[in-house]
Amino acid sequence: MTADAVRAYGARATEYADLLGHEDAVAAPDRELVLRWAAERSGPVVDVGCGPGHWTDLLRRQGADVEGIDPTPQMLDLARERFPACRFRAGRLEDLGVPDGSLAGVLAWFSLIHTPPDEVPAALASVARALRPGGSTLVGFFTGDGVEPFDHAVTTAHRWPVDELTARLAEAGLVVRETHARTDPGVRPQGAIVADRAA
Ligand SMILES: C[S@@+](CC[C@H](N)C(=O)[O-])C[C@H]1O[C@@H](n2cnc3c(N)ncnc32)[C@H](O)[C@@H]1O
Repeated sequence: MTADAVRAYGARATEYADLLGHEDAVAAPDRELVLRWAAERSGPVVDVGCGPGHWTDLLRRQGADVEGIDPTPQMLDLARERFPACRFRAGRLEDLGVPDGSLAGVLAWFSLIHTPPDEVPAALASVARALRPGGSTLVGFFTGDGVEPFDHAVTTAHRWPVDELTARLAEAGLVVRETHARTDPGVRPQGAIVADRAA
């Protein structure tokens, strides 16, 4: 994530948290997918790009051993204030700050969207390295017909065709287990991919 993107998220952290950073703002199919995926994990999980922390808190309440990490200090401040029972720290996809092979799960829910496409392989390699054998990542993102930038409300983001991101995850050494795509009324088409490190 660039310094400009961190600044952009910092400037709009409160607005983001008010608008999207709570349980009521989560679409039912997303909640179901993320909580089902998390329930299958046994061991430490990182919610990378946790933003204001609502997913971290949902996972914690479901019993996950979860830590939220984010590169934007203002997001971490909000997350700590709003969810004091959760653990949060600075970190990013490219450097998760954990030993290789240590995580049962990495939730990357709309946190890869601001990574320039040519840097996505390195970010996914970092996730793959952090997973233990049998560990899993769940990636949420915006879909489109091609890998293309768009004017996200906070800072430039990229759409990814599900097949393209699936290929990048496979190139990172992960086994893609599930793909999802849907278009809800009034919002951008979105996708999700579950990919595992072989046991
Ligand atoms: C669209 S918000 C998503 C927040 C939360 N996951 C959600 O679903 O509401 C993107 C978040 O990812 C963080 N982020 C952006 N680039 C990142 C990166 N390379 N590694 C980790 N987090 C990143 C931003 O600071 C921001 O908090």
